[in-house]
Amino acid sequence: MRPEFLSFSPPLIGEEEIEEVVKALRSGWITTGPRVDRFQSEFREFVGAESALALNSCTGAMHIALAVLGIGPGDRVVSTPMTFASTIHVIEQVGAQPVLVDVEPDTLNIDPERIEAAVRADPKIKAIMPVHIYGHPCEMDAIIDIARRHQLAVIEDAAHALPASYRGRMIGAPAGSDVTNLVAFSFYANKNLATGEGGMLTGPRELIDEARKWSLHGMSRDAHQRYTEEGSWFYEVQLPGFKYNMPDIQAAIGIHQLAKLPMMQRRRHEIVAQYDEGLTGLPGLELPVIRSGSTSSVSPSIDHDSSPSSGSGTSAPRFTSSRSTSILTTETNMALRRSSSRSRSARISGWCLCRSARNSPTATWPT
Ligand SMILES: Cc1ncc(COP(=O)(O)O)c(C=O)c1O
Repeated sequence: MRPEFLSFSPPLIGEEEIEEVVKALRSGWITTGPRVDRFQSEFREFVGAESALALNSCTGAMHIALAVLGIGPGDRVVSTPMTFASTIHVIEQVGAQPVLVDVEPDTLNIDPERIEAAVRADPKIKAIMPVHIYGHPCEMDAIIDIARRHQLAVIEDAAHALPASYRGRMIGAPAGSDVTNLVAFSFYANKNLATGEGGMLTGPRELIDEARKWSLHGMSRDAHQRYTEEGSWFYEVQLPGFKYNMPDIQAAIGIHQLAKLPMMQRRRHEIVAQYDEGLTGLPGLELPVIRSGSTSSVSPSIDHDSSPSSGSGTSAPRFTSSRSTSILTTETNMALRRSSSRSRSARISGWCLCRSARNSPTATWPT
């Protein structure tokens, strides 16, 4: 037993982040300003998005996305029960109704066939909100195809999916040129890129420009555009907007977290690979799959083919990542104890265990 408490998913904060926060504090500009501009632009480049808007949470990003698209009372939005509560809260907050469909048994991501069935049955559905659960990309080709045929918008909840890719495209880059597509990320304290609280919305330029107004009281100019030497004090309130903007103090952390993301990703993959290797073959456990063509933000690529057509990915995987010392003991030990005491099939996803929504309404959410 460890003598000291092992904290859950602590952020990897270095001197770079600390110094940048101090610089922001000393600069005299602590709300949305030059550091937010830099963070947005580097993030946009990193994921290959057309435009990006830094916000104070992923929840705020999803709320704004729905508002920008004009989704509201009388509309329905199809999503998944395998998510954190706020994916569904925001649908209700704009006055729309969530329609939840079941997940694929291997990835636990929303099942495109069930989306199709729901959309065919319900003409009030205006958007699809897929969640890349535990960082494994959803089957976006199928989802975009449904959206295109039924003229629906796609708002991706990518809270866990940084960095992740689907068929050579980073999550956050446009999923289809002829479909309205916005993507929301989380920088909450336990996320892969952590700014304490924070989020990012990516998408087409004109929608992100509109989202910027929604994020700051519907105002036509933010504080930096009003109070700096080159700015103008004149502004209009054009929308009944929210207060979801990211301040420069948070962006100061984000800039350096973003630079470290590939290194943190490699390290996470090493650790998860070691868990997967150690857990392979244990009775009662199903290990997470990585479908060919996808890279997950959490689990390393595996060298067996578990493409959608091959069905369940429960065969024993062989991992390509190297072994290393693990630091994720508490969560996994708890997960193992839970699963063995219940003698149930369980699925371990690196740092969190969930029983399939199909088997049980209760699950452990990564909040
Ligand atoms: C799948 C998912 N979506 C959305 C969120 C909300 O993110 P935020 O705390 O940045 O609002 C979370 C938070 O953990 C999450 O896990």
